[in-house]
Amino acid sequence: MEAWMVSLCFFSLSLIIYGANAEPVQDKHALLEFLTITRPTRSLNWNETTPLCKNWTGVTCNHNESRIIAVRLPAIGLNGQIPPNTLTRLTALRILSLRSNRISGPFPMGFTELKDLAFLYLEDNDFSGPLPIDFSVWKKLVGLNLSNNRFNGTVPVSLSGLKRLQSLDLANNSLSGVVPDELSVLSSLKQIDLSNNNLHGPLPKWLLRFPPSSYKGIGLIPPGDVTHFHPPPPDQTQKKPKPHFLGLTKTVFLLIIVITVFITLLAALLFVFALCYLRSKLGIVKDNKLEKKGMMMSPEKFELRMEEANNRLTFFEGCNYSFDLEDLLRASAEILGKGTFGTTYKAVLEDATSVAVKRLKDVAAGKRDFEQQMEIIGGIKHENVVELKAYYYSKDEKLMVYDYFSNGSVASLLHGNRGENRVPLDWETRMKIAIGAAKGIARIHRENNGKLVHGNVKSSNIFLNSDRNGCVSDFGLTAVMSALAPPISRQAGYRAPEVTDTRKSSQLSDVYSFGVVLLELLTGKSPIHTTAGDEIIHLVRWVHSVVREEWTAEVFDVELLRYTNIEEEMVEMLQIAMSCVVKAPDQRPKMSDLVRLVESVGNRQGSLETKPEKEASEISTPSKT
Ligand SMILES: *[C@@H]1O[C@H](CO)[C@@H](O)[C@H](O)[C@H]1NC(C)=O
Ligand SMILES: *[C@@H]1O[C@H](CO)[C@@H](O)[C@H](O)[C@H]1NC(C)=O
Ligand SMILES: *[C@@H]1O[C@H](CO)[C@@H](O)[C@H](O)[C@H]1NC(C)=O
Ligand SMILES: *[C@@H]1O[C@H](CO)[C@@H](O)[C@H](O)[C@H]1NC(C)=O
Ligand SMILES: *[C@@H]1O[C@H](CO)[C@@H](O)[C@H](O)[C@H]1NC(C)=O
Ligand SMILES: *[C@@H]1O[C@H](CO)[C@@H](O)[C@H](O)[C@H]1NC(C)=O
Repeated sequence: MEAWMVSLCFFSLSLIIYGANAEPVQDKHALLEFLTITRPTRSLNWNETTPLCKNWTGVTCNHNESRIIAVRLPAIGLNGQIPPNTLTRLTALRILSLRSNRISGPFPMGFTELKDLAFLYLEDNDFSGPLPIDFSVWKKLVGLNLSNNRFNGTVPVSLSGLKRLQSLDLANNSLSGVVPDELSVLSSLKQIDLSNNNLHGPLPKWLLRFPPSSYKGIGLIPPGDVTHFHPPPPDQTQKKPKPHFLGLTKTVFLLIIVITVFITLLAALLFVFALCYLRSKLGIVKDNKLEKKGMMMSPEKFELRMEEANNRLTFFEGCNYSFDLEDLLRASAEILGKGTFGTTYKAVLEDATSVAVKRLKDVAAGKRDFEQQMEIIGGIKHENVVELKAYYYSKDEKLMVYDYFSNGSVASLLHGNRGENRVPLDWETRMKIAIGAAKGIARIHRENNGKLVHGNVKSSNIFLNSDRNGCVSDFGLTAVMSALAPPISRQAGYRAPEVTDTRKSSQLSDVYSFGVVLLELLTGKSPIHTTAGDEIIHLVRWVHSVVREEWTAEVFDVELLRYTNIEEEMVEMLQIAMSCVVKAPDQRPKMSDLVRLVESVGNRQGSLETKPEKEASEISTPSKT
């Protein structure tokens, strides 16, 4: 009886202790053993008495602090081999970074126990010997970097089993043999680097979709480039009698030339006719000159007929521009974009200042209502809200004048310039965009007794201010627009489901659109885009379908994968975004709450840690040695 009581008490006591001090005890012991054996040259603050999940450098726990899910120990001076049965006991590990140390010995085969690994970074060490034969044990692997070691042997065919693999770096090793053709099935793969190994043989076709730097220095000859490497001696070709063009006889050849000349002449005639016809057409629509010239992107003067010469630009207080409507009309204009409510031009004034001029169409409001709404919009002065400088209202023209942002919109930074010289948008900037935009929209929502609606939140309406924080524009216009204006389709992809039915935007539909912008920042994908197979993808639906599974790494933009320490933040941001895009408006968070949530993720690690590939940037030691 007594023994029973005592054991019950003891049981509850241990529960209380456990509850107050919840931490992954087993995982902790494994890490402490690892530390005692390896003795890195840089000291870690892993004190048995301090709470591991909160205070240990380079260690991340899951949300209920029951397991360790990430260990990042870059450049802490680890030497020798990884002791067996230490790190391999952290079986919930998703991220392991031991890069930039001096670890030697073979690939730690015990890592096959770490079946949840999504990111494994062992680059810049002294590992040697063959790679594991069977990679299929790491089914969840998304990023693998083994570059700058001394691995030898062949590239394992089993890598082809990693269906989620997005980034594979085996560069600067001593791998030999051929590149397995089987790897062509890696459909998620977005980055690969096999350069500087001893690989040989034919270059597989699937590899050609990656930039040549991915396979430079491997001694492979691209199949199409064989002649390039063995050009025939020039004098030999001179000596040979010149064969007839395409091997045709002289008569046929002449006939072809005559026909070609005839067709060319005919085409030229047609072209001249078409030009004359178009010119006469253009004359008829002279009224649209402004738009036409802008569309052709020629920075010509735009002349706008002023029917009401007495109308002036209305400036807001504190505006330091000094120009008149006439100056504006004399300025050279260039189209910046066609938006939901009209076309925006960049106008360069004679004193070389640039402003953005929005030419509204489908304005339903009368002059008084329009002016009232402009006063509300122009009254907002906030670092995350693009300031309205001036406006103009006449029967035929409604203009709004804003500051011009030379960096372009977030949409163009994310989706524009996909070519060779693309500058990826880094994580820190993306977070600053999200935080800034959230603050800006929250500020707008406080205006007009807390009733003002942005109504047009999308990435092409968010800019980077001088501190590279997000800054929102193009708000408050739904109130003056004709309700039946067709351009609502331009907002497709950002529009909350209830707006599709009622055509009435609200603060909660702004939250939905903001959620879509967050998804855009995280995935790098446009809200509506087409796949290679011409399938139309709605970003929100797509993310839902991918996130059904527990590990969601593959939704993220590959440009973010080079940051080895932000996966948890990305997952948290994803959760915030998903809470914004729920169907029921009243279940979405308020903008003011979102500011707090997004900021808490964004400010977690501080800017120091989000720089990619900088030594010691991944760990936050209070006292660096
Ligand atoms: C751990 O922390 C306790 C108190 O915080 C301190 O007394 C002890 O010396 C520390 N141990 C080590 C090994 O640093
Ligand atoms: C542990 O971390 C918390 C907050 O991160 C800090 O306030 C506290 O001083 C730390 N404790 C130790 C012993 O380092
Ligand atoms: C912690 O969360 C995981 C799921 O992430 C769950 O499997 C586990 O049972 C939870 N542990 C505790 C102690 O709540
Ligand atoms: C790989 O390197 C080790 C020494 O580090 C050597 O013993 C072995 O023969 C090499 N294997 C191959 C296939 O080159
Ligand atoms: C490989 O080594 C070269 C020369 O040391 C270096 O420039 C290059 O960045 C390395 N590649 C990778 C992927 O680390
Ligand atoms: C792998 O690590 C090397 C060395 O730190 C780095 O240069 C390279 O960009 C990384 N590869 C990928 C795909 O991130």
